[in-house]
Amino acid sequence: MTPRTFQIKSFGCQMNVYDGERMAELLSAQGMSPASNREAADLVVLNTCHIREKAAEKAYSDVGRLRREDGSKPLIALAGCVAQAEGTEAQRRSPMIDIVVGPQAYHRLPEMIAQAGRGARPVDTDMPATAKFEALPARRRASPSAFLTIQEGCDKFCTYCVVPYTRGAEISRQRSAVLEEARELADAGAREITLLGQNVNAWSDGERGFADLIRAIARLDGVERIRYTTSHPMDMDEPLIAAHAEVPELMPYLHLPVQSGSNRILKAMNRSHDAEAYLAILAKMRSARPDIAISGDFIVGFPGETEEDFQATLNIVDEVGYAAAYSFKYSPRPGTPAAVMEDQIAREIMDDRLQRLQERINGHQMAFNRSTVGLSTQILIERKGRREGQMIGRSPWLQSVHVETAAQPGDIIDVTLLSAGPNSMAGAERQKEAA
Ligand code: 5AD
Ligand code: SF4
Repeated sequence: MTPRTFQIKSFGCQMNVYDGERMAELLSAQGMSPASNREAADLVVLNTCHIREKAAEKAYSDVGRLRREDGSKPLIALAGCVAQAEGTEAQRRSPMIDIVVGPQAYHRLPEMIAQAGRGARPVDTDMPATAKFEALPARRRASPSAFLTIQEGCDKFCTYCVVPYTRGAEISRQRSAVLEEARELADAGAREITLLGQNVNAWSDGERGFADLIRAIARLDGVERIRYTTSHPMDMDEPLIAAHAEVPELMPYLHLPVQSGSNRILKAMNRSHDAEAYLAILAKMRSARPDIAISGDFIVGFPGETEEDFQATLNIVDEVGYAAAYSFKYSPRPGTPAAVMEDQIAREIMDDRLQRLQERINGHQMAFNRSTVGLSTQILIERKGRREGQMIGRSPWLQSVHVETAAQPGDIIDVTLLSAGPNSMAGAERQKEAA
């Protein structure tokens, strides 16, 4: 039977969100339509994440839950990084899985669905350069803030991380293809474009680098705001820092993970920078763009991490004064060097450190939000708020701002920030002065 309705569930990072959107567009172009709920879906795509432990287990239990009360099940496609990592093993472990499709192969979904309809159980975890992008339909729908993947893969080999294995080597999409898709998104209503890549700032077409690409996108009609994530400190070059000073569309926000504040641990992580080099980059960035908000990622409990190492992490959090940050307990990943290192840290110690780190980060996030109270700025309206007449938009520093306004999603309005909460701001719309 050919499925007529589908549901896609994406887990993990923003790149998976982007892939989920592209799969939905692809299936819609085939004449399928989104199902109103899971029970009604003829096809369910689980777009999985493999970055931390239990990801695979979670994927299999999610698959199990797709069995309906009457014993029937939808057509099931396992997609994303668990699919890439497990390959044919996935169908051995769960016979319910009809299709296994990796992150570089999902343009083949229509064909694989047809094969599954004929009783086959297709698996494609090939990693051809950027073939999928050429095979996907043009962008016709976009939210005010849209994602655009420009780079995939990673050559950095941090010792804790599976990404170099699941997503392969660093590759950049062609400049012309990126500009074309950015133009399509802007024409479809996107005002803000967030450029995505596991190492987005490593983007290069061999001649021109990431900063040049940002400048070209900024020149496109309709693109009012540009963001990017995630960056590696090693690829934060001078042109990119200069772009933050000179390109008004480039928002004052930088997600630059450091992972630890201890040089001993950074070395064991194979991070290729120490704490001082990281802070030096931020200092340059702040002199280029003094109001820039910094966010980061942290891992606590990397093998061998002592209380002293952890203190160094708390210190760097204080020194940077993060506007936001994400922190994780170290999770051993099969096949990575750190998984077999000695001195794996006990769970209770990790729990305790994670809690202390998150408290410290929350304090800085609140302080950052408070420091913006009273500022006059602009927000991009993204969606309706909970209260009647209330809308939610984003400040240049990526804060959620609640405001009473008649403006609609996609509008950029002038606001004054009135008060700060831990996770959002309240603002008041300022009326444009009469000309
Ligand atoms: N364990 C815990 N956290 C990890 N991350 C990546 N690999 C692991 C792991 N094995 C975190 C890093 C990275 C973020 C996306 O996930 O902080 O920046
Ligand atoms: Fe998860 Fe990494 Fe895959 Fe994103 S790229 S879904 S973070 S494993």
